Amino acid sequence: MIARTPELSEAVFGLFQDLVRRRTGFVMTPSHRPRLESRLLADARAAGSFYQLYAERRDLASSHPAFGRILDAAVNGETYFFRDPDGLAAFSLEIVPERLLSGGADGSLLIWSAGCATGEEPYTLAMLLGERGVLGTRPVHIRGSDLSPDNIRRARLGVYGLHSLRSTTIERRDQHFVQAEGGRLAVHPDLRRIVDFDTRPILEEPKDGIAYDVIVCRNVLIYLDEDARRRSAELFAARLKPGGYLLLGPSDALAAAATPLTLVRLEHDVAYRK
Ligand SMILES: C[S@@+](CC[C@H](N)C(=O)[O-])C[C@H]1O[C@@H](n2cnc3c(N)ncnc32)[C@H](O)[C@@H]1O
Repeated sequence: MIARTPELSEAVFGLFQDLVRRRTGFVMTPSHRPRLESRLLADARAAGSFYQLYAERRDLASSHPAFGRILDAAVNGETYFFRDPDGLAAFSLEIVPERLLSGGADGSLLIWSAGCATGEEPYTLAMLLGERGVLGTRPVHIRGSDLSPDNIRRARLGVYGLHSLRSTTIERRDQHFVQAEGGRLAVHPDLRRIVDFDTRPILEEPKDGIAYDVIVCRNVLIYLDEDARRRSAELFAARLKPGGYLLLGPSDALAAAATPLTLVRLEHDVAYRK
């Protein structure tokens, strides 16, 4: 007998929508349904149905690999190197020099790319720091985090196809990458050394963790519901050093009234400052 292919009904899709939203604030729209269905098909087949799969996994911790597979299926991480020139110019030409001048006792520079997808954003920040001659002169650390374990696995590999480099000049390709298998390019080991990655939804971050000089969270809040945006804003405020900066994407709205951060107009972009 041939087993029937499980189908993701609208009602069960609604259950997955609510589950992902409760855990992460991420809002799946009906357009996410075909992707969720195809990415979870093998799991649903093993469980017996999509509802059975939902029932088996709804109480797992977000950090459990089987819950991670739901998160992988829910989000997609469109990104590329040197995306958003205005924000990067503000980071490299304005924010970094200022943070270096006002550096802490050990002169370290700590940066967090929250919602980094497959890693292009934090590596881009490392490349810009390299170009400004900052690396090697002081302790610099960049953290990339994302809710999708699959995105973070790929970020750690640090190997990319040309599509990810569509906004990267030839000079930068030569400077910051080395050849990898199949015509792909690997981020230079000197840059990989200062970037590390972990899987975690923003809303599950502790408020009293490491404080950063700069938090970059671009093209992420736009996908979250209002409550999650407000809680993310509070979290970012708690996790910035005094005088530190939060850089958002052009379409990311912060629940402005809810943040103790101040909107500042820089020459190249706007940013929030603690
Ligand atoms: C469109 S990508 C943006 C990547 C990068 N920041 C950029 O601008 O190129 C959005 C990423 O945010 C991640 N994301 C969405 N909601 C998140 C949350 N609540 N916590 C952590 N990551 C999240 C998704 O998994 C996805 O990889």
